[in-house]
Amino acid sequence: MRILQACAELFPLLKTGGLADVAGALPPALRAAGADVRVLLPGFRPMLEGVTELTPVAELDPPAGLCPPESGARLLRGRLPACGTPAYLIDAPRFYLREGGPYADDAHRPYADNHLRFALLGWAAAALAHGLDPDWQPELVHAHDWHAALAPAYLNAAARDGKPPPSVFTVHNLAYQGVFPGSAFAALGLPDAQFDMHGVEFHGQLSFMKGGLYFADHITTVSPSYAREIQAPEQGCGLDGLLRDRAHALSGILNGVDETVWDPATDALIAARYEAGHLAGKRRCKTALLRELGLARTARAPLFCVVSRLTEQKGLHLVLQALPALRARGAQFALLGSGDPALEAGFADAAAADPDGIAVRLGYDESFAHRLIAGSDVILVPSRFEPCGLTQLYGLKYGTLPLVRRVGGLADTVADTRLETIDTDATGFVFDRFSADGLISAADRALALHARKADWKRVQQRAMQRPSGWGRAADEYLALYRQLLS
Ligand code: ADP
Ligand code: GLC
Repeated sequence: MRILQACAELFPLLKTGGLADVAGALPPALRAAGADVRVLLPGFRPMLEGVTELTPVAELDPPAGLCPPESGARLLRGRLPACGTPAYLIDAPRFYLREGGPYADDAHRPYADNHLRFALLGWAAAALAHGLDPDWQPELVHAHDWHAALAPAYLNAAARDGKPPPSVFTVHNLAYQGVFPGSAFAALGLPDAQFDMHGVEFHGQLSFMKGGLYFADHITTVSPSYAREIQAPEQGCGLDGLLRDRAHALSGILNGVDETVWDPATDALIAARYEAGHLAGKRRCKTALLRELGLARTARAPLFCVVSRLTEQKGLHLVLQALPALRARGAQFALLGSGDPALEAGFADAAAADPDGIAVRLGYDESFAHRLIAGSDVILVPSRFEPCGLTQLYGLKYGTLPLVRRVGGLADTVADTRLETIDTDATGFVFDRFSADGLISAADRALALHARKADWKRVQQRAMQRPSGWGRAADEYLALYRQLLS
């Protein structure tokens, strides 16, 4: 089974969020399960520098409005570092070699030509499916998020015998849709008929996300709960009607944990290794972390942490509101994150006012994320919405019990600790109402459990032993591909 995965970021080369973790872990998991998988990525500098054995495959000839012939865009082929998965890169310096991030410049302004930059990704995926590389032609294209969402539209446009190769489109986050003025459509070289309610048109605008949702043979999201939630107005971001229409072709497949990167038994980035049966290393991680952060070494005080983009989605103003209550109950708190300036300032002020109890590190730091998760007792993920969420999965794996809101993938992965679940399936703390009070009452339960060492350890060990790798998800994707190919 020859499968092409198309996406914009991939760990460890380029990462802005969980999408990269998934893009880095799913292909090797699918290959381990027997599929012939390759990935297609934009030729951003870290991709060109990180992919090994790069050789040219073909000159690209996309529609002239999309990328003029004199720009000399090429397709390269190489291998991903570590896992060795074959990778295609779109070498188009005018689009991908820029100062700033993959989607926006250093001042966080989205690039004016993002519609062209990412349409080229979808176009190239379709071109591969139509034989661009004579040595390897995918039978199915799997596109991720809005950046790759036009792949199914281009496949549909170029269908020779009326039936394009099948495609899967995975929504990692419906809130980021890739919407551009309707006038941007003309340059893409897609048939005029696609600029329609039954196509990529969305209230007069061009929507990449809608192209993926409309033209893909099957849509997946990264958890079953999110697949249901986006079919209702509250979380449908204006696309719930289309998603309800396509409900028969929409399903949720939960993300896993890349255990080559996130496993406390082998993690070289943390102060000491540990596993469910030997937790002494976790205590050493906590001691080292408190020292690193300059937090008071208070016996028995549980340490709550956050590792997150600071955005509206993540509900972190609830944490800010709850901090005085958490501190009054003796807990300590540490955060790693960046994003919204008001949240950054709020957390920084809280840390400045209470350096013994609160530590805040603003910015992006992959290795500190490991140390923080390994050394903490509880990880907070109080999201307003959450397609899957990975940090709570890392928390489970590291015995750092997640305290989450019951929404999306958080609801599907964390089992609340109650009297009737403590001996059976409890792995964390779950609250319903999106409010600081809801969070505080779950924190109270976390604190009560933390005070009962034996019970805490039982829940912690269960969380750590819960099956967590990518094998199950890979099997589910393979079953879906098989069904679409038959
Ligand atoms: P999302 O993709 O919505 O941001 P996820 O929980 O799926 O949420 O994935 C977030 C990923 O980004 C995790 O791997 C997490 O460790 C990482 N991450 C988030 N913020 C930071 C940060 N400031 N520094 C390092 N890693 C971060
Ligand atoms: C998105 C979602 C997050 C999910 C990640 C990977 O960024 O916000 O919930 O875990 O994609 O699928």
